[in-house]
Amino acid sequence: MDLLIQDKVHDESRQGEALILEPVVKSNGRKLYIESYGCAMNFSDSEIVASILAEQGFETTSDFNNADVVFINTCSIRENAEVRVRNRLKEFAGAKFKNPGMVVGVLGCMAERLKAKFLEEEKLVDVVVGPDAYRDLPNLIEQVDGGQRAVNVLLSREETYADISPVRLNSNGINAFVSIMRGCDNMCSFCVVPFTRGRERSRDAQSIVAECTDLFNKGYREVTLLGQNVDSYKWSGPSLSPNPSPVERGLVEVLPTGENLGGVTEITTVNFANLLEMVALISPDLRVRFSTSHPKDITDEVLYTIAQYDNICNYIHLPVQSGNTRVLDIMNRTYTREWYINRIDAIRRIIPECAISTDVITGFCTETDEEHKDTVSMMDYVKYDFAYMFKYSERPGTLAAKRYADDIPEAVKQSRLQEIVAKQQQYSLYRMQARIGRVEKVLIEGFSKKSNNDYCGRSDQNAMVIFPVNEKYKPGEYVNVVVERTTSATLIGRIV
Ligand code: 5AD
Ligand code: SF4
Repeated sequence: MDLLIQDKVHDESRQGEALILEPVVKSNGRKLYIESYGCAMNFSDSEIVASILAEQGFETTSDFNNADVVFINTCSIRENAEVRVRNRLKEFAGAKFKNPGMVVGVLGCMAERLKAKFLEEEKLVDVVVGPDAYRDLPNLIEQVDGGQRAVNVLLSREETYADISPVRLNSNGINAFVSIMRGCDNMCSFCVVPFTRGRERSRDAQSIVAECTDLFNKGYREVTLLGQNVDSYKWSGPSLSPNPSPVERGLVEVLPTGENLGGVTEITTVNFANLLEMVALISPDLRVRFSTSHPKDITDEVLYTIAQYDNICNYIHLPVQSGNTRVLDIMNRTYTREWYINRIDAIRRIIPECAISTDVITGFCTETDEEHKDTVSMMDYVKYDFAYMFKYSERPGTLAAKRYADDIPEAVKQSRLQEIVAKQQQYSLYRMQARIGRVEKVLIEGFSKKSNNDYCGRSDQNAMVIFPVNEKYKPGEYVNVVVERTTSATLIGRIV
């Protein structure tokens, strides 16, 4: 089993969660059920899918037994993610037996990886749709209604769904995910994502700022900008507005005389630091988070931008994967141990209060005990606030599957994993305890899971904070909380 220390972007408690839509304006009398697995990007995609089908008049249901269309948005990252989906499909079989007209669709990464093979392997599946083909869903459902089975797994170089405003589902009305780019060009040798999500492309900066502004106006107070590698965000287009703000003006590049882009004479190039700043400027009361950063691409410019704006949260998820340079090399991560340490040192220098989390893989092909110790010593060096830790799982079609044998015995992978999990628990507790006696600015998200007498919310550093309800403050407002106690995952305190 994969082990993880709490984090919000890849939330284990949300795996398999079903989306519930608000009632649609013009119902077509059919009901949609959709549930999601995998990363935050997948959950965000399900909101896009729900939005496309709401346009067609589909209402949603939280019970697949009542649904006319049942969708499962899947993940391929490790084998166990796929096993989970196969088991879930078995549970849908009974419902389809009772209601043979039910359309069963597989969406997302596993659909993209297996393509039409899915239809052969899983007889109950009617439609297979990859992450770049969601606009085609109404047609595909029509084909299935006409008695065919349907597949669209075309990947795109352009699709960013920029113009689709996602319906926010199962939302607390306070935090939202906003996708800023799709795909990945990195080709880490262990990773299936470049094959399931295609080439990297950035979404129009104006549409991102517009979506975040709209969220803020609707009462949301925190946006998390999502991408597989946010540091390589880059978008160029016509100047942002007729009256650009000073930040936007700073970004405008005047084209050399003689060039003409269909009448447009100025283009704007926006990198990730610029985008962060543009979103931060929407309002000081809008918190900005982002995920995932890549050690090879994260720049000092991004770090200075985080330091400059109070509302850009002091929290960076910076996956290390391994602490050993040879292993990093065969993982094709394109950085060394020293480079990674240099980036950590830069974060500590420029944003001294910054929390850092990471992803680690144990037992990658040919990893020796000595090399594993380098990962352990990296954890000692950084003392991460959180970590996701995984045993290497070979994925068909990846560079590692083609080039290297998956030669580390399961028991060794497991014991290395246990070692780093124990280490991380120690450091999570250490980081939490360091906050005792300090005052945290907390965005109230709602009542705590355990009691309606307590509120919960996140600190700037992304720690969960629990404190007694004070009627003067409502979810969506900021309060200062002094930390009195902690567990390894939660700060406990009271409003001051
Ligand atoms: N096996 C184990 N873990 C993996 N990850 C990605 N691919 C694999 C794999 N084949 C982990 C990496 C990545 C996180 C999202 O999942 O640590 O950062
Ligand atoms: Fe997300 Fe990767 Fe899983 Fe696809 S394979 S859902 S990109 S974690």
